Amino acid sequence: MMTFISSSPEETVDIGRQIASFLRPGKCLLFRGEMGAGKTQLTKGIAGYFGADGAQSPTFAIVNEYEGRTPVFHFDLFRISSLQELYSMGFFDYLERGGVIVIEWSENIPELTAVLEDYCIVEIEKTGDSERNITLLD
Ligand SMILES: Nc1ncnc2c1ncn2[C@@H]1O[C@H](COP(=O)(O)OP(=O)(O)OP(=O)(O)O)[C@@H](O)[C@H]1O
Ligand SMILES: [Mg+2]
Repeated sequence: MMTFISSSPEETVDIGRQIASFLRPGKCLLFRGEMGAGKTQLTKGIAGYFGADGAQSPTFAIVNEYEGRTPVFHFDLFRISSLQELYSMGFFDYLERGGVIVIEWSENIPELTAVLEDYCIVEIEKTGDSERNITLLD
């Protein structure tokens, strides 16, 4: 377990870059955290580390792909409520594509932890207007 403390959006982006430096292709980061916690900010840092700028929320697309040195697949499961829907949209094909996978609203599909082989839960807690605790669970 590892905790980072952020006091601004920019610091959260930087923490994303630091986390990304530990990641290998195939790793899934399961983000947990309320609306506005900073999941997308953290993803900007992760995609930025791999050389892709401009990550933004894929709420309407379900997945955004960023082409950097290592591709980053950025999912938002806000509107997904079953593992079956994930299968239908081809989620499991992304696991074979040699990228890093970041998942906002992973708490919508609790079964994910049982079906993924290589994941890490990332909890983002709002502890103030601009303070956040970011914890890597495993
Ligand atoms: N320390 C901080 N880290 C990240 N964001 C912060 C911080 N302090 C304030 N913010 C603000 O909180 C918001 C975080 O937005 P972001 O889109 O990253 O959240 P999210 O968790 O992806 O939300 P959603 O569930 O709606 O997708 C931004 O408006 C940002 O400016
Ligand atoms: Mg978001």
